[in-house]
Amino acid sequence: MSGLSGLSIEGRQSVLRRYSDCPREHLLDILLDLQRAGSGGHIDEETAIWVAEELDIAVAKVYEALSFYTMLHTREQARFVFEVCGSTPCFVNKSQEVGEILSRQLGVGEEQMTSDGLFAYRFVPCFGACAEGPAIRLGDELYGNLTEKRIRELIMACRDRLGEADKP
Ligand code: FES
Repeated sequence: MSGLSGLSIEGRQSVLRRYSDCPREHLLDILLDLQRAGSGGHIDEETAIWVAEELDIAVAKVYEALSFYTMLHTREQARFVFEVCGSTPCFVNKSQEVGEILSRQLGVGEEQMTSDGLFAYRFVPCFGACAEGPAIRLGDELYGNLTEKRIRELIMACRDRLGEADKP
């Protein structure tokens, strides 16, 4: 589905209703909710314009938020994005090797999506699992003390989580 991040009018309106008291003060929350509820894990141009019109703010203000907050995306995201901590404690524990392993196992470089749209990986700053580095964040879950075998298991677990309808 293209446009408006794959969300119906009702879907978009129901997000806005959550912040009906003062929507302009909740621009980040609205964008995050729209991103979560839509397809592709991103805010597309039509959605950005729609939000600006609904909140009666400049489109530039929406794009300011989209470029400032790293958890917001303007490009379609893979279904599973491995976020590898690249900060110093994890770097010392060979986080670069984790990136190399992911690259090898997924067959893509950093920030690239696998051809089936399922996987990607990227380096991000510390997310608080420093004692268990090298660490990965996958959605809300954190995984530490990673080995090549453990990373392979994580990829397989992601595939197992897919419903039949989601399988390529
Ligand atoms: S330094 Fe890697 S999680 Fe904190």
